[in-house]
Amino acid sequence: MSVRIGDEAPNFTAETTIGEINFYDYLSDGWGILFSHPRDFTPVCTTELGAVAHLKPEFDRRGVKVIGLSVDPSESHEKWAADIEETQGAKVNFPLIADHDKRVADLYDMIHPNASDTATVRSVFVVGPDKKIKLSLTYPASTGRNFDEILRVIDSLQLTAKHSVATPANWKNGDDVIIVPAVTNEQAKEKFPGGWNEIKPYLRVVKQPK
Ligand code: BEZ
Repeated sequence: MSVRIGDEAPNFTAETTIGEINFYDYLSDGWGILFSHPRDFTPVCTTELGAVAHLKPEFDRRGVKVIGLSVDPSESHEKWAADIEETQGAKVNFPLIADHDKRVADLYDMIHPNASDTATVRSVFVVGPDKKIKLSLTYPASTGRNFDEILRVIDSLQLTAKHSVATPANWKNGDDVIIVPAVTNEQAKEKFPGGWNEIKPYLRVVKQPK
């Protein structure tokens, strides 16, 4: 079954490198990112897990819990972690799900049989504090993901949740943002007392709220 934006994130209990985890308990009332990689001891995956480990303080700062997944067993994840530390210069500092029975992969539609019927594709799900899916991405096995982009999306999602603003094309943290269409001008006066630039009635640009 596919899991789409706005759907409730399916909960699960799974074996991980830090013991059994219930996904909802792990997320508590914060944000989360669940991402799959095709296989342990593969080159692109090695660089990706190193990149996420380096960025862990950035996820922490945003209140985002990270959890990875592949269909390999825990012992394999643990052995591979030593290679990641040696080659990428970062200790794997987040849990990896050992989804050997593909239960979680099936729940999140992470196996695309026409790509591979034995390995997960590179899926990313961002889950909000309401346990709803806020972002879903699918990359092929041969393309490593840009985790700076995932942090950028999280910044945008968190701004929307807190301030009712959206972010334009190629937005970077600190750039101007857009008042969401659901906010009327009357409401906008309260929310943005410094005013905004109305380029069109539907395109109202405002400084990024702090
Ligand atoms: C990799 O992680 O390097 C990889 C995995 C499957 C296919 C191609 C690359």
